[in-house]
Amino acid sequence: MRSATMAAAVLAAGLALSAYSARAAGELNVICSADPAVCELMKGLFEQQSDITVNMVRLSAGETYAKIRAEARNPKTDIWWAGTGDPHLQAAAEVLTEEYKSPLFDQLQDWAKKQAEAANYRTVGVYAGALGWGYNTELLAKKGLKEPKCWDDLLDPSYKGEIQIANPNSSGTSYNTLATLVQLKGEDGAFEYLKKLNANISQYTKSGSAPVKAAARGEATIGIVFMHDAVAQTVEGFPIKVVAPCEGTGYEIGSMSIVKGAKNMENAKKWYDWALSAEAQSHMKDAKSYQLPSNKSAEVPKEAPKFEDIKLIDYNFALFGDPDVRKHLLSRWDEEIGSQAN
Ligand code: G6P
Repeated sequence: MRSATMAAAVLAAGLALSAYSARAAGELNVICSADPAVCELMKGLFEQQSDITVNMVRLSAGETYAKIRAEARNPKTDIWWAGTGDPHLQAAAEVLTEEYKSPLFDQLQDWAKKQAEAANYRTVGVYAGALGWGYNTELLAKKGLKEPKCWDDLLDPSYKGEIQIANPNSSGTSYNTLATLVQLKGEDGAFEYLKKLNANISQYTKSGSAPVKAAARGEATIGIVFMHDAVAQTVEGFPIKVVAPCEGTGYEIGSMSIVKGAKNMENAKKWYDWALSAEAQSHMKDAKSYQLPSNKSAEVPKEAPKFEDIKLIDYNFALFGDPDVRKHLLSRWDEEIGSQAN
């Protein structure tokens, strides 16, 4: 079903231009840090609308940051599309990414522009999404558990072994959660919280959306994820209910960056401009990717969680996008949580 809809979207978008076009304009090496389904959709659309062959891999945002850092002297990636903005800002601060202001810049929402301005145009916002969780309504009822409405509810001992969340070293979603908890509770308060939460966690996954996919399959009861990732499971027909935490929650500015010294620089800029267009962003929903798009004229999916109904914190992107803050928080997480994990 999912792939059929996607294939139709790719076909419709590309029909006029590309069915007969030769692959003459070279290649582009993309790391995609969004959901694999939307990564594939974007690759297909771009290939059909350009003559460029896209070599794409899906890696979580933290993994991508580490890879781009490790390859700084000899970059193998041209463009890093999507994934939470914090590691994009961290890469920008370390000048691992290229300064570029797209001609489409003025079409973007203020939050997407601010992301670029804060990084001297070494990154830009492509979408936004709020954190929360999804739970399996059937499992919850079967196990006689209460609906978790607040971050603090998740500490209840009745949820022992029922919750999944990603590892913040690999996952941008989980780093965004860690930063959110620090902003809600202070750093010591956040680590106290995470230690207690650890008793209820059955698995720390590599990718950010895996926990709610596990909940959809009945392998976990609750998955802490971006709300739009939980919505995608509901739309797929799984018994997943989406929660916006009562105390308030953080959010991501999903971002895009050109890698410094990219071998295919011209093609990277073509992707960059295209990925900021209303047309490209309006297609994301075809792969059940329900973030808020950054182009003001892109279609906002009707399924997208409504930011005006969610209590959002004033997330400090500058602070949590700082490489030293990342290093500090992750080493503390490794020491106090990761080393204790099952
Ligand atoms: C999912 C979400 C994206 C987010 C990404 C981060 O794909 O839909 O909005 O940017 O996760 O992935 P990660 O695996 O790094 O948490």
